[in-house]
Amino acid sequence: MRENHRLEIPNQWDRSGLPAWSFFNSELLQEEKDLLFRRHWQLICHQNDLPEVGDFVTWDLVGERALVIRGRDGQLRAFHNLCRHRGSRVIAKNSGNCRSSIICPFHGWAYNIDGTLRGAAQPSSLPTLDPVKYGLKPLEMDLWNGFVFIRFQSGPQPPVSQMLDGFTQEIKNYDLPNLRSTGRGFWTDEIAANWKCVRDVDNEGYHVPMAHPGLQDLFGKNYHDEPLKNGTSRSLGQFREGAAQLWSVRNYTALLKPKNSLTATQKSSWLYIGIFPNLVIGLYPDSVNFYQEYPVDYNKTIQRGSTYKFADEDRQMRLSRYLSMRIDRLTSQEDEQLITWTWEAALSSAYDGVILSDLEYGVKAYHDALRQHFPVLDGPEPPFQLLKAQNNHLIASRLKPD
Ligand code: FES
Ligand SMILES: [Fe+2]
Repeated sequence: MRENHRLEIPNQWDRSGLPAWSFFNSELLQEEKDLLFRRHWQLICHQNDLPEVGDFVTWDLVGERALVIRGRDGQLRAFHNLCRHRGSRVIAKNSGNCRSSIICPFHGWAYNIDGTLRGAAQPSSLPTLDPVKYGLKPLEMDLWNGFVFIRFQSGPQPPVSQMLDGFTQEIKNYDLPNLRSTGRGFWTDEIAANWKCVRDVDNEGYHVPMAHPGLQDLFGKNYHDEPLKNGTSRSLGQFREGAAQLWSVRNYTALLKPKNSLTATQKSSWLYIGIFPNLVIGLYPDSVNFYQEYPVDYNKTIQRGSTYKFADEDRQMRLSRYLSMRIDRLTSQEDEQLITWTWEAALSSAYDGVILSDLEYGVKAYHDALRQHFPVLDGPEPPFQLLKAQNNHLIASRLKPD
């Protein structure tokens, strides 16, 4: 079992959070994209999103384009979605099926679904091209309990299974490898804020009693966070005793049909596993979901996620899943407002940093991990070239008409 980190909060700790400049600095953002998002494992989909030969999922992040596709041999493979001729996407859609081959929409080069080049259009106009050398460029891929992770460049993390080893016992009853797609695909949402503000709101439960009436109604005081340690964090909300006030929570707890194989505690709680730097997997009695966030610019973040059903879902469990998804949808709408407000605050002349509560230690633990990658975050001012970028931004924002 993963050891409990709740008791590790020291008496004295730096409660001041990240420096304001880090939330609107374009140069830092480039470093974050390179060091964090390209070099850390990114969840793309679940293996059962792609049950058939030729099924694929594509996803763009931080200037990269990923493609995962199931080959004729049943194996999943990950590639850059980038034609070897002149760099077009070889697949334009987010998901679908390429049964026999992948045809680039620009000039029509054809690739086999194992990524090798089948042939260029009008091959006599080109030198002979080796099918492997000029095949789609492979991406590093890792499979953990059915979830498909990719990495654009090698990085500091061990294989995903090693990183999540401490959760092996706790998650086994959820039968994650056999999760099923709900057919709804992946949701995305654009948030007008720096990506770190999204993570900062998500990394603490201190705001739940005030900001999330639904979650508060569901958990009451039975919610706690275990801050990030060795790349993972854990949060658990156990359903409170007594009748719920809100329609969706009351119906959810009354009608809930949990998965049979779960323990009594798992049947009445929501478990969240956080994986550095940008992923949370939610394990519920009725379904499993994930959500992640990606920076587009210093002031724009894309959130993406999906919900999966259990292989043995019946009508009542499906109804339970609809209700838990409804509670989740409201929660993320509530969070979105808070995320935007905290990001805007960092631009205000009155902003003086933050004072974190012990119940927000998860925010600090996450910041510590960021500081390990970017020691520059320790300073109240960015280094000179970063300062220049910040000033340019401020000048630009002041020139903007109100
Ligand atoms: S860019 Fe793909 S065929 Fe030309
Ligand atoms: Fe929240």
